[in-house]
Amino acid sequence: MNNNEFLVTGGTGTLGSRVVERLRSAGLEPRVLSHSGRPGTIRGDLRTGEGLREAVRGADTIVHAASSPFRKMHQTDVEGTQRLLDAAHRAGVLHLVYISIVGIDRARSFPYYRVKLETEKVVEDSKLPHTILRATQFQDLVLLAIRILARLPVVPVPRGLLVQPIDVGEVADRMVELALSGPGGRVPDIGGPKVRTVEDMVRAYLKVTERRKKTVPFPLPGETARAIRGGALTCPENRCGEIGWEEFLHGEMGRQQKPTLGRRRDHAKGGQV
Ligand SMILES: NC(=O)c1ccc[n+]([C@@H]2O[C@H](COP(=O)([O-])OP(=O)(O)OC[C@H]3O[C@@H](n4cnc5c(N)ncnc54)[C@H](OP(=O)(O)O)[C@@H]3O)[C@@H](O)[C@H]2O)c1
Repeated sequence: MNNNEFLVTGGTGTLGSRVVERLRSAGLEPRVLSHSGRPGTIRGDLRTGEGLREAVRGADTIVHAASSPFRKMHQTDVEGTQRLLDAAHRAGVLHLVYISIVGIDRARSFPYYRVKLETEKVVEDSKLPHTILRATQFQDLVLLAIRILARLPVVPVPRGLLVQPIDVGEVADRMVELALSGPGGRVPDIGGPKVRTVEDMVRAYLKVTERRKKTVPFPLPGETARAIRGGALTCPENRCGEIGWEEFLHGEMGRQQKPTLGRRRDHAKGGQV
């Protein structure tokens, strides 16, 4: 496609910032919709509709990576996406690429996944040509959770949870590829190179970071945990990523040892590996 005006929603977030970097590397100048109104971004709020008209004006393609999993998720994700689509349709936008999550239909007991499913439906039902990509959990997110658990003297680990974490840069690569192609509807899911248990990942984390701590597996109750133990969030048939968990952890450690970069809070959202 030859239309090269891009808008990235959530362009300050974990995935969106990587998408912005890649579009810039390709010589494009995407605009970024930002809730917090950081410098160089267009301030806008999906929850209220503020700034959306201005943000979509003149855009050909929208990469929609904004989301609010912890606060007012229905208003932001479902209703906010509808607001974005309406504004985009009025402005003549040609294509919207939406990022979703593998297995949301198999783990509906988790409220955020229900919201994501509803948001997918809003995108599918809209008049705007679109592409929907579902990805597995980003390694950054898994690291964030494991780092919290590993602060304890003995590390409690939910038993048997199956995940297939993927490098967020590889998801960004795919999002950009899709954004530069025409609308494709729902495209094949992408997941990381390996399905692993969270226990196994915690042990690898402790080894790579040279922490001598004991892990204590425990059974996590509830329907969502049962679905995750059954592999609901994985897509073993679609192993697309090449950067494995250990490689990612070593990369994080290497980055933190470079004095020029200091502690990259943007990458692992928390400072230390
Ligand atoms: N994390 C994962 O493992 C994973 C896996 C698969 C799919 N996904 C999907 O990928 C997408 C991005 O995830 P992420 O981890 O990159 O998220 P993130 O780091 O939390 O970033 C969220 C972004 O949404 C923006 N935002 C929040 N509320 C907003 C509002 N009311 N109006 C406008 N923008 C708002 C934030 O903007 P400000 O910073 O300006 O507030 C931020 O840029 C989400 O749709 C998520 O469901 C995530």
